[in-house]
Amino acid sequence: MGSIALYGIYGLILIVLIGYVIARWMAALRPRRGAGGHSSPSAAQEGGGPAQEGVDPELARQVERFQASQGVLSIHKIGASRQVRVELGQRGYDIRIKPGLLDEIGPATRAATTGHAAFIITDSNVRPLYATRATAALAAAGFAVHVASFPAGEMHKTLLTVATLFDQIFAAPTPPDRASVIVALGGGVVGDVAGFVAATLLRGVPFVQVPTTLLADVDSSVGGKTGVDHSAGKNLIGAFHQPRAVLIDPQVLGTLAAVEISSGLAECIKHGVIRDAALIGWIEQHAEDLRPRAAAAGAGSLSAAGTDVMGELTARNVAIKAAVVAADEHEQDKGPRSHLNFGHTIGHAIESAYGFGGAADGDYLRHGHCVALGMVAADRIAVARGLLAADDAARIERLLARLNLPIRLPGLSADTLLATMRLDKKARAGRLRFVLPAVHLGTVAVHEDVMDSEIREAIRYLSNP
Ligand SMILES: NC(=O)c1ccc[n+]([C@@H]2O[C@H](COP(=O)([O-])OP(=O)(O)OC[C@H]3O[C@@H](n4cnc5c(N)ncnc54)[C@H](O)[C@@H]3O)[C@@H](O)[C@H]2O)c1
Ligand SMILES: [Zn+2]
Repeated sequence: MGSIALYGIYGLILIVLIGYVIARWMAALRPRRGAGGHSSPSAAQEGGGPAQEGVDPELARQVERFQASQGVLSIHKIGASRQVRVELGQRGYDIRIKPGLLDEIGPATRAATTGHAAFIITDSNVRPLYATRATAALAAAGFAVHVASFPAGEMHKTLLTVATLFDQIFAAPTPPDRASVIVALGGGVVGDVAGFVAATLLRGVPFVQVPTTLLADVDSSVGGKTGVDHSAGKNLIGAFHQPRAVLIDPQVLGTLAAVEISSGLAECIKHGVIRDAALIGWIEQHAEDLRPRAAAAGAGSLSAAGTDVMGELTARNVAIKAAVVAADEHEQDKGPRSHLNFGHTIGHAIESAYGFGGAADGDYLRHGHCVALGMVAADRIAVARGLLAADDAARIERLLARLNLPIRLPGLSADTLLATMRLDKKARAGRLRFVLPAVHLGTVAVHEDVMDSEIREAIRYLSNP
């Protein structure tokens, strides 16, 4: 009898202890609440109401998923070469980063398929720069190589382009079969279009990403989102189709225009804000090396030191993207992958309304520039809600500006942007969602209750010179 009572007391103590640990854990994840304290937060680390009444299972589930998506940032470095694994079971693949890798894409592509034909898909800018080297590397690995291309630019990320690529592929002397491999050689536009061709050609063939812009290196080449734009909105047509390998040669950034480098840097800062405050510090430390300079445009080569900084930047970013994708491959409702949309709600609206339809002289807002503006706006909303310290928001703005990214855009119309956001929302049959910083830099949460008045205030802020 006595020992049963003793066990009972031990059990009670254990339950109290577990309860205390869980309560401390939830409290640590809870943000500072602002004066206005908005309700109905939807992501785990936001805490708020439910957490105080006990552990809400939905909340606990989201905390778990968020933490899984932080992953272990494992970068394997041997000499100047770096490697990161995207852990997706049977569909898992390696991201290799190495100066000069463009001339060595043959073996990794050969490892992806036993097929005979390789189709390089590229655009009109990249083709004259790099298609010959890529063709030689693939031919050396025993492939019959064909190059298919389309005019460069976001305005050509369309179904029409996909159709012209199919025409080129089916007209090749070696016709495609299910083992043929598509090699995406180019920036994010090429990667998205070529990936979609690979997803749909003969109901799906293997593909390999060989990105050539910083944005594609650090973001779009990883994760298997492929597709094209529609007049109703960006990326509305597409498929999930994971590459078999991502082969990154940082040296090819030597020919990339400074404006494109800055565009890629915006996505790097995004990764820091959503997952890795240390990455923000690293970018600050290396800002002078990373800062795109007009002289870099068309220079044709990066110094060894410049290449190494770009290689390290890329490795740190793909490690974050790989962990997020591994935790939530298909972007489930409010899942970790949706955090990658930080800065993109207003950013996409700016891009649709003011971006790629722009000037023919090339002086238009790139994707990353729109994301930079979108991040400034999201931070502004977060500061007003008491979710982010004003100092942290100012720090991000300073860093964006140092990297030649826009942090203000005079003349923005809140009516136009809200209408564009609603259209996009309607097209996706979803709710207007904002990813906002939570607790501190490196953590974010999804909100569905952001009011028009808050969005208008943030756009006013963006428009102020
Ligand atoms: N799939 C994803 O997960 C994902 C993620 C982020 C962005 N994206 C998409 O990526 C696209 C933007 O990609 P981007 O910024 O790479 O644009 P991009 O592909 O248009 O490339 C930018 C410009 O640089 C040129 N170029 C490419 N490599 C070059 C090189 N090495 N030297 C000289 N010129 C070069 C291109 O021809 C183009 O004119 C958008 O459509 C966006 O929606 C997709
Ligand atoms: Zn983006």
